Amino acid sequence: MSKIHAAITAVGGYVPDYVLTNQELETMMDTTDEWIRSRTGIRERRILKGKDMGTSEMAVAAIKNLFSKRPDLKPEDIELLICATTTPDMQFPATANVICDKAGLKNAWGYDISAACSGFLYTLTTASQFIETGRHKKVLVVGGDKMSSIMNYEDRATSIIFGDGAGCVLLEPDESGFGIIDSVLRSDGSGRVHLHQKAGGSMRPATIETVMAKEHFVYQEGQTVFKFAVKNMADVSAEIMERNHLMAEDITWLVPHQANKRIIDATRERMGLAPEKVMMNIERFGNTTNGTLPLCMWEWEPKLRKGDNIVLAAFGGGFTWGATYICWAYDGK
Ligand code: UT7
Repeated sequence: MSKIHAAITAVGGYVPDYVLTNQELETMMDTTDEWIRSRTGIRERRILKGKDMGTSEMAVAAIKNLFSKRPDLKPEDIELLICATTTPDMQFPATANVICDKAGLKNAWGYDISAACSGFLYTLTTASQFIETGRHKKVLVVGGDKMSSIMNYEDRATSIIFGDGAGCVLLEPDESGFGIIDSVLRSDGSGRVHLHQKAGGSMRPATIETVMAKEHFVYQEGQTVFKFAVKNMADVSAEIMERNHLMAEDITWLVPHQANKRIIDATRERMGLAPEKVMMNIERFGNTTNGTLPLCMWEWEPKLRKGDNIVLAAFGGGFTWGATYICWAYDGK
């Protein structure tokens, strides 16, 4: 019997309506549209507004979008949902449980994976094991974040890059060589000092003092993170090419984490790819953390063809990073 691969067979996405432009940021902090565009490539990002609106709202909208493209699929068919998020609706229960309830996935079990900006890649690999072993036939992988909920809009070096959004993919078994072929995943916890949220966890629970000290927001040492991201995202992308004997001309698309256009360009150059082969929507959505990779696939889905060789690459807090090689399984419409 040929090997079972986990193939992505449908994609969904959702971004909130509210557009936070660089011009609006200029009214909130000491910055300029020119600085933000030249240093990051970002022009605008989406923000989820409204009372009690969390990451699950966007995830459910993305799942509904996916179901709208697959009339043959019923919510009860989903056996497992794994959610990659850094901004769960609540500390517990897992946002995956909330999503399953709201989306009517009555037969699914689920849990969250926390790996910052590499969370979607980690989750894709984790979820694919359930398909490869034959344990499940229909698994949903969701990646999404409401980054605006942990953003200090007085911190001009950090807040300008993040936005809100969510995407999802359906994994099903494939025995003809298509699907998720390989992944290289890495982590180095010593990098946590450079990118983290100081308070709100068990080490430093919320108090009046932690709130007053703004410790519930993202803390990022941008330049240091940038240096690690440029090197590691490029290294791991080159490594997955070598391991799978892929030359630049064999690769149809690079799907990079959207943190900074300069990091994306460095990865692309290291892989020897032309700019047209890179999925990039950072200009419009900014860095949606766990949402970036599925939102790219969601937007590019109509252009994807069966047999396309796709490399996904990410770097994020932890530090965590990795690359995944997919042989795309269907023609997008
Ligand atoms: O997705 C997870 C992983 N995260 C990343 O991959 C992010 C990696 N880091 C970055 O993308 C960049 O470091 C940032 C975009 C976050 C910041 O850009 P940078 O070029 O590293 O800026 P910087 O923090 O080193 O600041 C350079 C200068 C400073 O001024 P001085 O000290 O040189 O006078 C800052 O005060 O730019 C200033 N600056 C700004 N000026 C206008 C910082 N932020 C801004 C701003 N507008 N928004």
